[in-house]
Amino acid sequence: MPAVLRKVGARGPKLRERLPRRSSLRAVARVFNIKMDVRDAVLDDAAEIAYIYNHYIATSHAVFESEPVDSDEIQRRIILAGTEGMPFLAAQKNEHLAGFAYAQPFLRDPAFDLTAEIRVCVRPGLLEQGVGTALYTSLIERMRSRGFKTLIALVAMPNDAAARLHEHFGFRDAGRLEGVAQKFGRRIDIDCRQLAL
Ligand SMILES: CC(C)(COP(=O)(O)OP(=O)(O)OC[C@H]1O[C@@H](n2cnc3c(N)ncnc32)[C@H](O)[C@@H]1OP(=O)(O)O)[C@@H](O)C(=O)NCCC(=O)NCCS
Repeated sequence: MPAVLRKVGARGPKLRERLPRRSSLRAVARVFNIKMDVRDAVLDDAAEIAYIYNHYIATSHAVFESEPVDSDEIQRRIILAGTEGMPFLAAQKNEHLAGFAYAQPFLRDPAFDLTAEIRVCVRPGLLEQGVGTALYTSLIERMRSRGFKTLIALVAMPNDAAARLHEHFGFRDAGRLEGVAQKFGRRIDIDCRQLAL
């Protein structure tokens, strides 16, 4: 029996009846995620966003910064997103932030006003439980309703999780920029994914 079912103890039998017959751990986790709330980030979220972001800054080429950021800097970015008309979203699960996603201008020339770049990070420990999907669902809907026509994701390769997430939402492969990024002393290829809204 998956550990997550063992944890539910006495409530287990009833809950198990509602699960798909061949439920994987991820399917079970999605049942528990029903109560996850995706909302606009507020300044009080900054410390938890910094915690999540700093984890990936330190450990992964998936985010492009190398130095840790503090809460003040995250607050500055939340405010900037607001002034630029870009959503900055947080996924709340129980008492913790499960992840965040935001959009930013792709290029600042006016010709690109209807195009935006989007980014997402999920809290370590809550991966593969539908948080990224929930954040992208809300973010893409917000961008569509604000009249944007194209979303771009710049994915540092390899990144199987991000590749699958973008495929799930219908992003198409728009080519690879070879060795254009550097982190941890390595040159990194960036895959461009684009979604027409
Ligand atoms: C990429 C990321 C946001 C995905 O978030 P997540 O909450 O784990 O993803 P979900 O549980 O919603 O899964 C989305 C899809 O990706 C797949 N997936 C998730 N992790 C995966 C992995 N490690 N390998 C392969 N596929 C994976 C899921 O199976 C699911 O596929 P489906 O739509 O066919 O069911 C998360 O891994 C993350 O924060 N990574 C670090 C930062 C990052 O890479 N950001 C993206 C930069 S472009």
